[in-house]
Amino acid sequence: MEYELILLAAGQGKRMNASKNKVLLHLLGEHVIEYALNLFVSDANCKQIILVAKAAECEELQQMIAKNKHYRVAPIKVVAGGDERQDSVYNGLYHVQDPSRIVMIHDGARPFIEQEFVQRLYQKAIETGAAILGVPVKDTIKKVENGVVVETVSREHLWQIQTPQAFQFDLIMKAHQKAKMDGFFGTDDASLVEYYGAPVYMVGGSYDNIKLTTPDDMVIAEAILSQRKKWRGR
Ligand code: CTP
Ligand code: MG
Repeated sequence: MEYELILLAAGQGKRMNASKNKVLLHLLGEHVIEYALNLFVSDANCKQIILVAKAAECEELQQMIAKNKHYRVAPIKVVAGGDERQDSVYNGLYHVQDPSRIVMIHDGARPFIEQEFVQRLYQKAIETGAAILGVPVKDTIKKVENGVVVETVSREHLWQIQTPQAFQFDLIMKAHQKAKMDGFFGTDDASLVEYYGAPVYMVGGSYDNIKLTTPDDMVIAEAILSQRKKWRGR
């Protein structure tokens, strides 16, 4: 089992409404980005972490890495991102060292990813070429047009999609290249693979693996962390 990770930190975190990029905010004493970083950096199967950062924040991230005392296995390379998430991933792909390895792509704003899901995802990607994590939708979903409900969508086939997403290198590179050529933008990497025409396989994840997007997510994040501490203390 060998993979390389593209860890995304090059956004602005506009919806978080904070004075700095949300992945650099503190969550119980550590930067948001350090939670995912710590998990992957100590995974013996992770052969390289490509940390994609805003050019202006590369130095701050380098300093954070230097100070981080977590047990390290995987080397970390900080590279510059682009205007959109998709551009940041594309830049990151050029730093993959070994194209025979699986590439995982993860949002730095998702601190609660756990090892068992990374492993399941990796297995599925090896078998199929493209695998993503997600959870079945719990809420009732309705389609609304001009303020009026036009349809209650059956939940049966609906999943909420998360990261990491894992791919064979050639497939995700070709999918990104085609998307760039066609001017196609997707909200995740799997949608580019779907657009390219290859199947993407679902792996059941955890409802804890939230993305920190708005200020209320920070409150939920602290609750998840204190719950985890309690469990560990048992
Ligand atoms: N991201 C990135 N490069 C971009 C945009 C986003 O690397 N040009 C990263 C973010 O740092 C984040 C992840 O992609 O870890 C998911 O994106 P999102 O939640 O949208 O983060 P932001 O773009 O930072 O937030 P916002 O959209 O509210 O500005
Ligand atoms: Mg964004």
